[in-house]
Amino acid sequence: MDRIRIVGGNRLNGVIPISGAKNAALPLMIASLLTSDTLTLENVPHLADVEQLLRILGNHGVDVSVNGRREHQDGSYARTIHFTCRTIVDTTAPYELVSKMRASFWVIGPLLAREGRARVSLPGGCAIGTRPVDLFIEGLAALGAQMEIDGGYINATAPKGGLIGAHYTFPKVSVGATHVMLMAASLARGTTVIGNAAREPEIVDLANCLNAMGARISGAGTSTITIEGVSSLSGARHRVLPDRIETGTYAMAVAMTGGDVTLQGTDGTLLETALETIRRAGAEITMVDGGIRVIGHGDDIRPVDIVTEPFPGFPTDLQAQFMGLMTRAKGVSHVTETIFENRFMHVQELARLGAKISLNGQTARIEGVSRLKGAPVMATDLRASVSLVIGGLAAEGETIVNRVYHLDRGFERLEEKLTRCGAIVERVSE
Ligand code: UD1
Repeated sequence: MDRIRIVGGNRLNGVIPISGAKNAALPLMIASLLTSDTLTLENVPHLADVEQLLRILGNHGVDVSVNGRREHQDGSYARTIHFTCRTIVDTTAPYELVSKMRASFWVIGPLLAREGRARVSLPGGCAIGTRPVDLFIEGLAALGAQMEIDGGYINATAPKGGLIGAHYTFPKVSVGATHVMLMAASLARGTTVIGNAAREPEIVDLANCLNAMGARISGAGTSTITIEGVSSLSGARHRVLPDRIETGTYAMAVAMTGGDVTLQGTDGTLLETALETIRRAGAEITMVDGGIRVIGHGDDIRPVDIVTEPFPGFPTDLQAQFMGLMTRAKGVSHVTETIFENRFMHVQELARLGAKISLNGQTARIEGVSRLKGAPVMATDLRASVSLVIGGLAAEGETIVNRVYHLDRGFERLEEKLTRCGAIVERVSE
């Protein structure tokens, strides 16, 4: 099993290319199930989760061709992938596949909309909480689907003639359930209005792509989305938006180590709350041509309290990284997690590097320390694992991050991007 070895203490200087967003690429890829034409996605990141979803889509009949893995001078890749699903050959998404990646559950929306039925395994628990699927069930039922749970699977059946547009307001904001409703309602008869919809930029990206495919969606990016159903969707070409979580992660890494790094190919307007928070912690962040520039001072990190919230609030996917940064702040800060009930597994691991963190329910109290010291640590989930990398970059001596497969799910060529900026980070294979 691969490990990442970090020798901390170096400042980061240079350019880091930001990849296409994993959390946009996954629903966009799933949208290819909605049409028999070819959907072409540009800027698809090369990540374990993407590869896993390619296998899952293949199972349903999607033909995939990967085109032009073009390497740019700055080291970035641009991957264009063509997806063609002439016919859906299987409407079942089995447990073996869905349990490996929760987002694959989202195939339920397009399968149901296009074929009138889907049998999709319940995803099960995961490291950051129970993550139920009640909102998906309620939302699709509102469109007229019959939803039954049987033997760990959801059997969904559309009424004769297909799903029917409806007004449905989510009792709680869910990114995944909003994605699924957009896809399902696009092929429903009549108009659907979704209330309390997620407003994440990845929702807007999916809506833009669906509209390019012939859907009629308005209001994406606000809490109320209106979808006028159409009878079929066509192919389209769409570019995946930049990864705001990767952007925020590297911005925090620079704030932590000190240095001057340009994050290339990203868009600061995708993460204004996070960037403002990092500024308050002491880093200088400016918008530059084609990206953002981060200047960190390393030794002068100010404590800032955060509460995670749905977009446009501070993202839960940057919570662990921000806690990593706060471990070296001059003073006490508090991090409150409101989205997932068990997203604090990094606390014990950061403590191994010398961080002083105490937990009280949903809130962590972090007392900044003047130095962290390298140690062997364990990655527990995707975002938690990168907080350990951030800690390791600022720690004295060697940090070994075990169970790197978590990192590979969501961070493209992390060690290479950091090494180019002067960090000592290497992958050790056994
Ligand atoms: C997506 C992101 C993930 C991010 C999360 C919150 C992808 C691939 N993943 O996950 O990185 O951390 O948004 O921004 O885009 N919930 C229910 N019932 C449901 C569905 C969700 O109670 O049927 C709850 C969840 O347990 C959680 C909250 O709603 O407490 C938000 O989850 P949700 O927005 O659905 O997260 P995901 O779409 O799974």
